[in-house]
Amino acid sequence: MKKELYQFQYYRVNDRAALSKEDFDLLDAAYKAAEQAYAPYSNFKVGAAARLVNGVVVLGSNQENASYPVGSCAERVLLGNAAVQFPNVAIDTLAITYLLADRKSDRPVSPCGMCRQALSEFESRVDHSMRLLLAGEQGDVLVLDNAKDLLPFVFQSQHLF
Ligand code: THU
Repeated sequence: MKKELYQFQYYRVNDRAALSKEDFDLLDAAYKAAEQAYAPYSNFKVGAAARLVNGVVVLGSNQENASYPVGSCAERVLLGNAAVQFPNVAIDTLAITYLLADRKSDRPVSPCGMCRQALSEFESRVDHSMRLLLAGEQGDVLVLDNAKDLLPFVFQSQHLF
């Protein structure tokens, strides 16, 4: 028996002025997307903005439903939009953030497990890693080099065959 270690590195940005203008603007687009979220049940409005490798920015926000499990997270709404509008075009950077009803969000958003799975497969299908910017309205921003890092032992197509 052998104990193994899984680890990854990421950046913690505590001064947003240190972000590049491209990243800062992408985060701003994610806030605007969050404002358009349909989240009357959770009041947790999530916005995502992806800069594709062709420079185009694609948006997503969470879309809830009175039948709760029917709702979709912002990240997966975005991935669907990107895949339909720009088939096979990779995402360079994906910014994700959220708005709360009663106060300013101040912790980096943490994508759910289902979205980690979807983000990871998107990277595989276009054979390109996507940087992630995870933010609240204030506080630290986390910058990851790729989405796969968030899901160790991800289930992949190879496991099916
Ligand atoms: N949600 C997202 O859209 N993305 C995340 O990364 C976390 C959670 C949504 C799902 C649901 O509409 C609401 O936030 C509360 O869970």
